[in-house]
Amino acid sequence: MRLGIYIHWPYCRSKCPYCDFLSYVKKNVEQSVLVDGYLSDLEYYRSLNDEYKVDTIFFGGGTPSLLEPKQIERILDKIIGLWPTADNLEISLEANPNSQYPTLFEDLRQSGINRLSLGVQALNDKDLKFLGRTHDMKEALSAIDLVKKNFDNHSIDLIYARPEQTVCEWKKELNQVCNLGLKHLSLYQLTIEEGTVFSQKGIKPAAEEKAAELYNITTQILADFGYEQYEISNYAQKGYECRHNLGYWHGDDYIGIGKGAVGYLHIGDKILTTTHPRQLTEVLPTERAEELLIMGLRLNEGINKRRFERHCGIKWQDFVCQQQINELIKENLVTETSENIKATSNGRLLLNYVIEKICV
Ligand SMILES: C[S@@+](CC[C@H](N)C(=O)[O-])C[C@H]1O[C@@H](n2cnc3c(N)ncnc32)[C@H](O)[C@@H]1O
Ligand code: SF4
Repeated sequence: MRLGIYIHWPYCRSKCPYCDFLSYVKKNVEQSVLVDGYLSDLEYYRSLNDEYKVDTIFFGGGTPSLLEPKQIERILDKIIGLWPTADNLEISLEANPNSQYPTLFEDLRQSGINRLSLGVQALNDKDLKFLGRTHDMKEALSAIDLVKKNFDNHSIDLIYARPEQTVCEWKKELNQVCNLGLKHLSLYQLTIEEGTVFSQKGIKPAAEEKAAELYNITTQILADFGYEQYEISNYAQKGYECRHNLGYWHGDDYIGIGKGAVGYLHIGDKILTTTHPRQLTEVLPTERAEELLIMGLRLNEGINKRRFERHCGIKWQDFVCQQQINELIKENLVTETSENIKATSNGRLLLNYVIEKICV
């Protein structure tokens, strides 16, 4: 059975005002001691199930590019020693531009990382400042250049639908981004999360209509440059989809290591979610089914009904209301075959409505 492993590194150089991911700003972290804990957690999860083959590993954060490459190597060596691994193991890492460490990307590649996702967020200095980033545009462009030199499989993250951002500005920025020749792009609309500095300052997200307009322009421009959308916020040149995230959206099993990591495992006939430290909680098949529906409809390929049944143990037709699906089909919000159901591009803009109608 295929397995993903997610390694969460919760430390950052500073806290961005929009971010509600679990992260701490702390200097002098005892990396080797923390990684010792990661290694013993890996051993623990290995002991729970003998049937897995590791297909993808993802270092996420926080800022995992602050993790010393020698610590990354320790983690990778451990995983490879514990599990059989796929021949084309995908090993991704999220990095922040960091000009204080000029050989960062070379060192990351040497440590075994083979897919690099760079958090750029904006390609102009005014918005980078607004987003509270520690890098400017010059640093971002030079980091992108180094990423391209050191990796074949690369991606950047951008946040759009920023307050005051005009359609014209976003089109210009997107064209510039597409001309960088990256294999993958993750483009997220800014959300204002409770408890963040942005929320405390009363910053408002883009109005719904404006956000929809920006989204439509985004998919159009990216398609012109040969990027295929495969999930609401993710676009890739052919063959460069993030396999780790696809596994997650499909509902495949994965182990989560590190403070903010969760995991999903099948053990015997039980579905378990895991949280740090080694907390295993049984999940009801109906709860998992709902999650699979929410994640699957974000994907352009939609939901494969057999996989859905395999992962949650509930027959598709017993979970959904077929009459509601028929109405959604008439409204041109979903399409359905005997194998599969997917949201149309209109449906993806009204996903909450679609999900509510399908699961009753
Ligand atoms: C785990 S986070 C950060 C990774 C990395 N530390 C960085 O800052 O680039 C992954 C991505 O989520 C996105 N993100 C975080 N907070 C967001 C928000 N409030 N709205 C939209 N996108 C957000 C950013 O694009 C970010 O790169
Ligand atoms: S966006 Fe990235 S760098 Fe900024 S606080 Fe969140 S995890 Fe840290």
